[in-house]
Amino acid sequence: MSLPKAELHLHIEGTLEPELAFELAARNGVTLPYGDTDELREAYRFEDLQSFLNLYYELMAVLRTERDFADLTNAYLARAAAQGVRHAEIFFDPQAHTKRGLELGTVVEGLWRALERSEAEHGVSTRLIMCFLRDDPAESAMETLRAAEPYLDRIVGIGLDSAEVGHPPVKFREVYEAAAALGLRRVAHAGEEGPPAYITEALDVLGVERVDHGLRCVEDADLVERLVRERVPLTLCPLSNVRLRTVDTLAGHPLPAMLDAGLMCTVNSDDPAYFGGYAGDNFDAVREALGLTDERLRELARNSFLASFLEDDEELRAR
Ligand code: ADE
Ligand code: ZN
Repeated sequence: MSLPKAELHLHIEGTLEPELAFELAARNGVTLPYGDTDELREAYRFEDLQSFLNLYYELMAVLRTERDFADLTNAYLARAAAQGVRHAEIFFDPQAHTKRGLELGTVVEGLWRALERSEAEHGVSTRLIMCFLRDDPAESAMETLRAAEPYLDRIVGIGLDSAEVGHPPVKFREVYEAAAALGLRRVAHAGEEGPPAYITEALDVLGVERVDHGLRCVEDADLVERLVRERVPLTLCPLSNVRLRTVDTLAGHPLPAMLDAGLMCTVNSDDPAYFGGYAGDNFDAVREALGLTDERLRELARNSFLASFLEDDEELRAR
């Protein structure tokens, strides 16, 4: 689906396609425990979020140099552009790389090499969002925020991802306060596998402007009413939800009911190399499985620009 759209929930490490993983492994002398790309693809049968995260972190071993991060990002931008993405707000997981011994600068400079040429080369404007791993200690997140200070001209905001249950937003209160003081925008994953209360906490304690996923809000009518009233954008990822079994089938996804309730939903790809599709593929999938009308699809695309961190004039140009 080439409808112009913004992608607001995309982990750059989740765009690592098997072919590129093997290419980078060869380039960097890394041995992967899979014989070939087919064997690797066979491993993409996930039980839940954690079973996916195990593979996601394992494959990051092939990312070693600035060039690797630039190649990864360029490959994503080319694919996104081909599916109508005009603007992408891209998550990255610095701790997943620094804990492997990489410098934060290697990651940010590598991503930046691709991002700074993205508008000219792919017609895609971009923003970078630094995510903290919620299953790591809050102290590590705070150290990462401090280490990122030299790069804050390239980072629009912070996010929170990785294993959700047992790691409530409140764990990161001080980190989010410090980020707000630095002028950073704030988002967080909440209500993917975690309960609706985590969504409320992300809003009230972390001051997030958007909720990533937010799917489980549908279990709490008062929360839905609040999200509608406050026009809080939700960055839904339908194909991810199916692959990680947060919904049973795409046909049973609550997206239509969420739109009918007046929630400000957007459709995104999360980790497209692992979940079977990029942004346009997610639009196509919900149109087919849920019978969304063209008007609904246009609403989703419009929401993606409205919920973005683009300035008003940039937003109009991107549409
Ligand atoms: N990191 C990458 N993808 C994620 C997801 N869907 N949820 C939480 N953390 C993630
Ligand atoms: Zn995500």
